[in-house]
Formats: sequence, C-alpha cells, structure tokens
Amino acid sequence: MRPSLLRTASQHLRRRRDYSSSAAQPERKVAILGAAGGIGQPLALLMKLNPLVSSLSLYDIAGTPGVAADVSHINTPALVKGFMGDDQLAEALQGADVVIIPAGVPRKPGMTRDDLFKINAGIVKGLCTAIAKHCPNALVNMISNPVNSTVPIAAEVFKKAGTFDEKKLFGVTTLDVVRAKTFYAGKANVPVTGVNVPVVGGHAGITILPLFSQATPASNALSHEDLKALTKRTQDGGTEVVEAKAGKGSATLSMAYAGAVFGDACLKGLNGVPDIVECSFVQSTVTDLPFFASKVRLGRNGVEEVMGLGELSAFEKEGLESLKSELMSSIVKGVMFARES
Ligand SMILES: NC(=O)c1ccc[n+]([C@@H]2O[C@H](COP(=O)([O-])OP(=O)(O)OC[C@H]3O[C@@H](n4cnc5c(N)ncnc54)[C@H](O)[C@@H]3O)[C@@H](O)[C@H]2O)c1
Repeated sequence: MRPSLLRTASQHLRRRRDYSSSAAQPERKVAILGAAGGIGQPLALLMKLNPLVSSLSLYDIAGTPGVAADVSHINTPALVKGFMGDDQLAEALQGADVVIIPAGVPRKPGMTRDDLFKINAGIVKGLCTAIAKHCPNALVNMISNPVNSTVPIAAEVFKKAGTFDEKKLFGVTTLDVVRAKTFYAGKANVPVTGVNVPVVGGHAGITILPLFSQATPASNALSHEDLKALTKRTQDGGTEVVEAKAGKGSATLSMAYAGAVFGDACLKGLNGVPDIVECSFVQSTVTDLPFFASKVRLGRNGVEEVMGLGELSAFEKEGLESLKSELMSSIVKGVMFARES
C-alpha cells in the first residue's frame, strides 16, 4: 500500500475507533409531521425500531392518538408520544433533532406532482413556520410533494424567520435511489444488497436523473437501450405505484422505508458517525440551479459536503441539460408561493 493510502486508512480507522469509544449514544428526538398518513404510519413504525431514536413525536391533524398508542407498545427504547391539531404542534416539535414531513395529499391517477402543489404548499408553509419557531436547529427531511417546490418553500419560510441554515434542509429523494438500485440489480442480475446508484437532479419525472454509468457493481451486461429503459422506469416509478393502487394513493411502504433510511443517515451524521453519504435535494452550487439533488456527506451539523456529479455518460449529460428548465421553474414556483402567500 502507498504511504498516503496507509495514512488515509489509519485516519479512517482512528475516526471509527473515536466514534465507537465515545461516550453513551446521545438522546435524539425525531418528530414526524403527518404521522397518521399512508407514509407516516409505517415510517413511525420504522423509526420506533431505530435504536438511535430516544424520543419519537407523532403529529398529525387527526388520528395520532391511535397511531401513537399502537406504536408505543413495541418493546424498543424510543419513547412515543402522539400530538394532534394546531395547539399541540409546538410541544410535538420542541427539542426535535430531526423533523420528517410526510404531511399532505398524495397523487391520484392522472395527477402530476405539480397538481398537488396548491394544497401541499400551504401545509408545508404552515409546518415550517412552526419549525422555525419551536425547533429552528432541527434537520428537516421534506417528503411532501412536489419536493422540487416544497424545499424552496421551506427555505423561504426559514429565511423570513431568520433561521435558515442550508446545511439543515433536505428534500428526501431516497426513494428514487431505492428504486434505481432495485431496478438495476434486477436487470444486471446482481445481488441488490451490494448495489449503489447515485440519483441526481430533482424529484419529479425527467428531473430525476439516475447515474447508471456510476452504478456499482459495474455491469457489462446492459445495453444502451437497457440503460434508457432503466432510467425511464426510475423516473416513472411513482406513477407505476399510483396506477397500480388505482385511486388509493401513491407509494407509502417503499417511501416509508426510504424515509427511514434517510432519517437514520441524518441521525448517524449528527452523532458523528463518519462517511455517511446519501443523495438529497439541497441548496447547491453543483449546477447553476439553486437547489439540486446530488450525493451529500452528512455530519454533526447536517450537510458537511455537497458532492459533485462525477463523470457523466453522453446520455446522462443530455438528461442533465433537459431537466434544468423544468426543475428551475418548479423551484421558482415554490419561492414565489412562499413570498406571495
Ligand atoms: N418524497 C417522495 O419520494 C414521496 C413519495 C411518495 C409520496 N410523497 C408525498 O408524501 C405526502 C404524503 O403522502 P401519503 O400517501 O402519506 O398521504 P396520506 O393522505 O395518506 O397522509 C398524509 C397525512 O398528512 C396529514 N396532514 C394533512 N395536513 C396536515 C398538517 N397541516 N399537519 C400535519 N399533518 C397533516 C393528513 O391528515 C394525513 O394523515 C404526499 O405529499 C405525497 O405526494 C412523497
């Protein structure tokens, strides 16, 4: 091994040792807003199973007492409390380290994510106003769609309140990564557990850009046509579920899984676990767009590093150029909504 590599390896080991020998695990409070919904309920279950969570706060406008009572009977350490309605929101948020937001209405067949805009934009604005007031230092994981607009809305609300920290606001795009990994493993015929695929851009239709040229393990078995089809399936993954559910909502179980993976990564980062990298839609200078999804290194303060795109194939470069105008107009739509409403 080269001396520089040896040095890096030993630094890495030392950091891991520092982490594992550090004092008791910190207390962490996670709040889920929209906890009685299709995503909220399985997400509450998965966060109750997460050993890094010491307090789990379940908030919704209706139905949370039942969900909280149910989940609270599971014999894991997280202390579960349910909160319902506006006047309990402050207590639900107080002291939260991570706030996960799956509140809002889901897509029905024939609806685009942008159709949801009017309803969900107002819900997100209200919830973020409360976050700015009651837990301004929390990491915010935005699930409510359209993420391409709800994240800029949240940023504007926080800026207006004087609490904005770009390191602490995340659009959850993990489901795109989860889908890209699953579809790639199936097509390349490799074990799915070892697969990694970065997904960049945004979180709707063609703004979702999976980088299969960087997928690991690499596969020679896939033709250009295969890669195009995999890209399209990843972009249309949400619609595939909406149509299969035939009027009964959008992805909930796979989304709860993805939300739990991202929430866990945020908690690990906060706790100082090194080398936690996930894709997320964040404030960014990676392209000329003000928000963009790419790999992000998570740390004690949230985003530690927004990572670059790496080498793109010609097909991916084309995809990147053609997503920009749609993504920009969704971002502007969010900013304008927050400023004008
Ligand atoms: N980021 C992603 O990848 C992704 C994937 C799937 C769905 N989604 C989005 O997640 C959101 C939720 O989807 P779902 O299927 O769970 O919907 P759902 O209708 O089943 O649940 C939404 C919940 O939000 C609650 N809610 C509404 N207004 C609220 C408010 N002001 N405060 C707190 N809670 C409120 C509702 O009472 C309901 O329980 C939708 O916007 C959907 O489009 C995102």
